[in-house]
Amino acid sequence: MVAKVESVNFDRAAGYYDATRALPADVMAALTGVLVAELAPSRQPCLEIGVGTGRIALPLHARGIQLAGADIAEAMLRRLVVNADGVRPFPLLLADATRLPVTDAAFGSVLAVHVLHLIPAWRDALDEAMRVLRPGGALIASFPGGGPDARRNHSAAPWRQAMREVFARHGLARASSGARTPQDVADYLGERAAARMLPPVPVTETQTLGRTLRGFEEQLYSWTWPFSREQVLMAAADIRAWAASANVSLDQEYRVEDSLEWWSFERPS
Ligand SMILES: C[S@@+](CC[C@H](N)C(=O)[O-])C[C@H]1O[C@@H](n2cnc3c(N)ncnc32)[C@H](O)[C@@H]1O
Repeated sequence: MVAKVESVNFDRAAGYYDATRALPADVMAALTGVLVAELAPSRQPCLEIGVGTGRIALPLHARGIQLAGADIAEAMLRRLVVNADGVRPFPLLLADATRLPVTDAAFGSVLAVHVLHLIPAWRDALDEAMRVLRPGGALIASFPGGGPDARRNHSAAPWRQAMREVFARHGLARASSGARTPQDVADYLGERAAARMLPPVPVTETQTLGRTLRGFEEQLYSWTWPFSREQVLMAAADIRAWAASANVSLDQEYRVEDSLEWWSFERPS
C-alpha cells in the first residue's frame, strides 16, 4: 500500500488503457527511435515515473535500454508484467514519484510521460527526479495536448466549441493541479536544468464525434473521473442533441494532424 496519495491513480484504467492509448506502430517506432537516441549508456539506467502498462518503457526495453519503473497503480504494473509475457522485465516499484525509495544519483535519466499533470505535488516530483539523477543526467518529459499544430487542427473539428460550451454548462471543468507545460517545468527547475525540445514526431489521427462521445460517456479519460456517471451522461445527451440540431454527423471522419513534442531537462555535469 502507498499511503496518502493525491495523484490520479490509474488502477481503474488498467483493463482498457492499452486499447485506448496505443500509438500507431510507425509513430511508436519513430518515437522510440528519438528516445533511444537520447538514452545513451551514460543516461542509463532510466527510471520511468508513472510507467503504467509499459506503453513507452517496453519498446525501449526491447531496444536494449536499461530501465526501472515506478507507479502508484498496482493494477497498471500488473498489466505491464502481462504485456511483457508474464515476466517482470525490469525492476518495478509501487511508489509515488514525490517520494521515491531510491538512493541519490542512482539514474542517468528519468522519464515522465503524461504524468506530471496528474500530480498535485509536481514540484516535489521534480525535486525527486533531480535528486535521483546523476550530474549530466536528464529528465525527459511529455505533456498532454500535443503541440501547437494539434491545438490548431483540433479547434477545426466542428464539435469542439459546442462540447466546450456543454461542459461549461454542466460544470465539467478540467481540474489542472499538476504541471501542464514544459514552461511550468523549466520555470520551476530554473538553473538546475537546461530545457531542450526533442525532435517532434508527427502523428495523424482520424476522429469522429461518435467515437469522441463514446470515450467521454464511458469515462475513459482521467479528466472525467471526478464527475458522476449521471452528470457525464446528461452532458453527453446535450451534445448528441446539439449534433442532431446542427446536422453534424456522428460518423463523419476528421483527420487531425498532431505532433508529439517531448522535452529534455538536463542537469549540468
Ligand atoms: C496517463 S498514465 C501514463 C502511463 C505511461 N507513462 C504511458 O505513457 O503510457 C499516468 C500513470 O501515472 C501514474 N501516476 C499518477 N500519479 C503518480 C505518482 N504520483 N507517482 C507515480 N505514478 C503516478 C498513474 O497511476 C498512471 O499509471
